[in-house]
Amino acid sequence: MGFSNGSSITVAIVLIFCLLHLSGIQAQRTFTPNGFSFDEFDLSRDTDHLKFIGDASASLGALQLTPDSKNNLFSLYNRSGRVMYLQSFKLWSSGDIQASFNSTFLINIYRTDNWTAGQGLAFLIAPDLSIPPKSSGQWLGLTNDTTDGNQTNQVVAVEFDTEKQYYDPDDNHIGLNINSVISNKTESLDEHGIRLCPAEATNYSVWVQYNGVSKLMEVYMAKGGEPKPEQPLLNATINLKQYVKQESYFGFAGSTGYPNVELNCVLEWSLQVEILSNKSNLIWLKIGVGVGVPAVALLILIGVLYMRKKKVSSDEESNVFDAQLRWLPGMPREFKYKDLKKATNNFHESMKLGQGGFGIVYRGNLNVGDHNTAAEVAVKQFSRDKMEGKDDFLAELTIIHRLRHKHLVRLVGWCYDKGKLLLIYDFMPNGSLDKHLYETSNENTLNWERRHRILAGVASALHYLHNEYDQKVVHRDLKASNIMLDSDYNARLGDFGLARALDNERNSYADLGLAGVPGTMGYVAPECFHTGRATPESDVYGFGAVVLEVVCGRSPGIQINHNQRLYALVDWVWMLHREGNILEAVDERLDNDYVVDEAKRLLLLGLACSHPIASERPQTQAIYQIIAGTLPLPNVHPFKPVFTWPSMETSCGISELSVSSTTTLSSKGCSVGSVNNQWA
Ligand SMILES: *[C@@H]1O[C@H](CO)[C@@H](O)[C@H](O)[C@H]1NC(C)=O
Ligand SMILES: *[C@@H]1O[C@H](CO)[C@@H](O)[C@H](O)[C@H]1NC(C)=O
Ligand SMILES: *[C@@H]1O[C@H](CO)[C@@H](O)[C@H](O)[C@H]1NC(C)=O
Ligand SMILES: *[C@@H]1O[C@H](CO)[C@@H](O)[C@H](O)[C@H]1NC(C)=O
Ligand SMILES: *[C@@H]1O[C@H](CO)[C@@H](O)[C@H](O)[C@H]1NC(C)=O
Ligand SMILES: *[C@@H]1O[C@H](CO)[C@@H](O)[C@H](O)[C@H]1NC(C)=O
Ligand SMILES: *[C@@H]1O[C@H](CO)[C@@H](O)[C@H](O)[C@H]1NC(C)=O
Ligand SMILES: *[C@@H]1O[C@H](CO)[C@@H](O)[C@H](O)[C@H]1NC(C)=O
Repeated sequence: MGFSNGSSITVAIVLIFCLLHLSGIQAQRTFTPNGFSFDEFDLSRDTDHLKFIGDASASLGALQLTPDSKNNLFSLYNRSGRVMYLQSFKLWSSGDIQASFNSTFLINIYRTDNWTAGQGLAFLIAPDLSIPPKSSGQWLGLTNDTTDGNQTNQVVAVEFDTEKQYYDPDDNHIGLNINSVISNKTESLDEHGIRLCPAEATNYSVWVQYNGVSKLMEVYMAKGGEPKPEQPLLNATINLKQYVKQESYFGFAGSTGYPNVELNCVLEWSLQVEILSNKSNLIWLKIGVGVGVPAVALLILIGVLYMRKKKVSSDEESNVFDAQLRWLPGMPREFKYKDLKKATNNFHESMKLGQGGFGIVYRGNLNVGDHNTAAEVAVKQFSRDKMEGKDDFLAELTIIHRLRHKHLVRLVGWCYDKGKLLLIYDFMPNGSLDKHLYETSNENTLNWERRHRILAGVASALHYLHNEYDQKVVHRDLKASNIMLDSDYNARLGDFGLARALDNERNSYADLGLAGVPGTMGYVAPECFHTGRATPESDVYGFGAVVLEVVCGRSPGIQINHNQRLYALVDWVWMLHREGNILEAVDERLDNDYVVDEAKRLLLLGLACSHPIASERPQTQAIYQIIAGTLPLPNVHPFKPVFTWPSMETSCGISELSVSSTTTLSSKGCSVGSVNNQWA
């Protein structure tokens, strides 16, 4: 291999960078007072946090609720076990107050070809760290012959059941169980295209959410690596306080039967529980009675002083913030709140243009420019009550202001008033792309030529954000509703650069996995559910979703029924690609009025950008050239590659070391092979 001197130095730098990066890769486990997250399990290490009960153990990076052995069938029969998190959580307090919680986990219920699956596993809330003896077979590690149905169990569970009993709908369902293996509510999974225990090993992601205010419990499920679906599979209003102990434990239970067996594995698990405040009048009263009036007076005095101090300092803070904003050089124009109010008719409903991730957008008429000429603008009012991470925001606003590109929506000005933030943008007469894809009755508005031009525009804006500006900017929230159309139907990317500043250190699960950012389904790259971090690669993934959406005229979040099977948009296109019918995916409403070569190019590009492994996605430079037809078609594997985590992804593409302009599609010069995925 003949590298020139220059390129071998570059390669060396890249390699060093990758090695540094690799040495930082390790299992991610976090523990906080209100939750935790495991992305793999290890018996030698995790006994500090987890209790393994009955036949449960951990091996191959996973919790094994029942023994894991494919060779010794006898050791698999009639087993049951639980794994519980050692710390309890307070789930309710006086009155009607209950803690919300969210848990996400990845399960793999495994069998070999010649086994019939039995019996299942369950996510459970239990009052203690014990397990009933003889809970194998139909009892799922939850109850037994004597205790089933007894209220003193204080167990609430979500079961994943693979064997039919007389009380079950079938051998492939989930259910909500209260103190019993007889579910209060079940949902059969066959009609959702989910097989809990298929012949080939399959991971499933599960999201269990409980809202302590509405008392709604919801269970979502998707194939491993796919995003959280919009609709829960199962929901139920359940007043947990009636059933569970105030201090309860979370964990998993599982069982096998005879002769039906399976391996009950949990590969990843995270939980977040809302912390209920302990402060209540009752406590004050008790202190008062116990230590007498003077102490209470003292406490109150301290309290008042503290409150005053706090108030003063936060006022000061916001003044400083104000001043900083105003004096910043190169800032866009500042507007007065009362002018914006007037311009938007007091933020009247009729002026509302839409609602985005961070706030509401209104249309307004404002005097902008030097000659105070009235112009139409879009005013974005942020919904957060108070700004957090102000310094970040300041930094970001200057960056946003300096970003100028014909495919970015221009920032006209800003306003900061009493903690409320408003940004003023150019008004885009044709609104956002999604409206034209789905809401317009006039199908001619988005003919092929326009669709192609829109995608080329977005690609060039993305390339600009990622590369051409000295501070790399990641968009983070690329989706059809953030792509605006000017009067000529040219794409203008909006909302760029905002996310990072407005995001106040919320962790990945709260942000993505569980909160399920509204309207974002299908645009979020799979690795983001693990890292919570947006990268140029995750932008490219979002771009891929937009490409498929524009060409197919279908939303990435909506399932497509094809021969009685449900597909996510990307899986559907991938399947058509495999079968050699990729052009079948093109929007029927175009009535075959499109350029075949361009459509094929875009669809393959959309798939290439949707590669589950971040480092395999093309970069913006290549994307732009592929759309323009100056690079050959991407080579897309007929089967969608499997998402692996952690992957060997490196941040070479993200680093400041800019990769040479002849970047090819897949090779980044630093993929070292795939990490040991022990679970097969
Ligand atoms: C498993 O349990 C069932 C019912 O309790 C029993 O009939 C069977 O003999 C047991 N099998 C083994 C291998 O323990
Ligand atoms: C399943 O197949 C394996 C070999 O492939 C064999 O050893 C085992 O006995 C079979 N088990 C059953 C229950 O048939
Ligand atoms: C069921 O479990 C309880 C304790 O949880 C135990 O007292 C009882 O004996 C068990 N019953 C059977 C049939 O094993
Ligand atoms: C439920 O369990 C409690 C305690 O184990 C026991 O005293 C009670 O008799 C049981 N109730 C029924 C209906 O079995
Ligand atoms: C549902 O749960 C309640 C509460 O424990 C129980 O009393 C009831 O019998 C359950 N219903 C069904 C159909 O299992
Ligand atoms: C709960 O699920 C039912 C369908 O089973 C659905 O009609 C209903 O809208 C859901 N409710 C909520 C609050 O999601
Ligand atoms: C759980 O997720 C929902 C959104 O899906 C979010 O509103 C809620 O705050 C989360 N709760 C906790 C305790 O993290
Ligand atoms: C299941 O997930 C684990 C851990 O994330 C991964 O190593 C494994 O390859 C996945 N298996 C399948 C069949 O997707």
